Amino acid sequence: MNMHSADARTVEEALATQEAAQEKFDSETATQVAMQDTLLTPRFYTTDFDELDAVDVSPVRAEWDQLIAQMQADPNRGHFKKNENWDHVDWDGMEPQLKKEFLDFLISSCTAEFSGCVLYKEMKRRGSNQDITQLFQLMARDEARHAGFINDALREAGVAVNLGFLTQKKKYTYFRPKFIYYATYLSEKIGYARYITIFRHLDANPEFRFHPIFKWFEEWCNDEFSHGEAFALLMKTDPKLTSGINVLWIKFFLTAVYSTMYVRDHQRPAFHKALGVDPDWYAHEVFTKTSALSQQIFPITLDIEHPRWQRGLVRLQKANADLARAKTQTGLGAAITRLTSQARAAAAFVSLFTIPSKKHAVPVSTRMEPAY
Ligand SMILES: [Fe+2]
Ligand SMILES: [Fe+2]
Repeated sequence: MNMHSADARTVEEALATQEAAQEKFDSETATQVAMQDTLLTPRFYTTDFDELDAVDVSPVRAEWDQLIAQMQADPNRGHFKKNENWDHVDWDGMEPQLKKEFLDFLISSCTAEFSGCVLYKEMKRRGSNQDITQLFQLMARDEARHAGFINDALREAGVAVNLGFLTQKKKYTYFRPKFIYYATYLSEKIGYARYITIFRHLDANPEFRFHPIFKWFEEWCNDEFSHGEAFALLMKTDPKLTSGINVLWIKFFLTAVYSTMYVRDHQRPAFHKALGVDPDWYAHEVFTKTSALSQQIFPITLDIEHPRWQRGLVRLQKANADLARAKTQTGLGAAITRLTSQARAAAAFVSLFTIPSKKHAVPVSTRMEPAY
């Protein structure tokens, strides 16, 4: 029998299993969706790998070794594959709008998981620093399993993302290492908060679990949690990364990551309705958890209780919806709507960004355990 990506010990093994599956299966539409590069779709990143390779983790050695040992023990090996808990999915009987939004959710999640995989794998390939390459190998392994598992779910619906094609053809955005830290740290921690919030909600309300993949979210989010821990430690090796002018960058990334999530989730009303989740409640819940977690390393959090916060998010989301509609239309009216909605989105973002942030002291010990 062929190996499954869930059982792979390395990222290379995991990707090979996906390639073998892909040979028998290709889905142009899903791959095209994954290829899209807009402000709201997951991107692929590249960075200055030499600078990253030069990071010396000795200031955080004790915490580092503990984290690596935990990841090497590999508690989730073999987890990310279908087993007897995987219920039959009636894709043909699924309400069309829900099917469309859910497929979009799966494709965009698969792209995001794979984006991490590609970046981490490249760092591991290019580096010579043992600590760094070891960490990135372990994280790439996890993300390859996650992406592979989502692709398994997609194949049942007759679609799959061609991961090899994406690696070669998708545009790569360059970020300096410090921006990779902020963006990736946050996406790992918000990923944890998103998965665990859905998992706990469906655990309490199983009648809303319309697809078996949600049963796998608990172990899944623990992987993302560890990845976030690793980036927190990397940032801790250099106090400059979280002080001075960089605090403004941190605020920028927090605002961008939170507001992108809000806008993107509000594009999927049928999906959230099927889950029995109010997207405004969900966003607030996820932001609250992510803010609590990010205090481990960031000296500020966003004031999500500020009256301008929710208002700004709604304005941003409306401007974005108007822009998306105008993009499908032609003529002068649509051109004007495109311009004005872009200006409205920019103004809403500035309004969110200028809300005074909450400052606090960062704990001496960085490490946390998943507690939600
Ligand atoms: Fe992941
Ligand atoms: Fe991750």
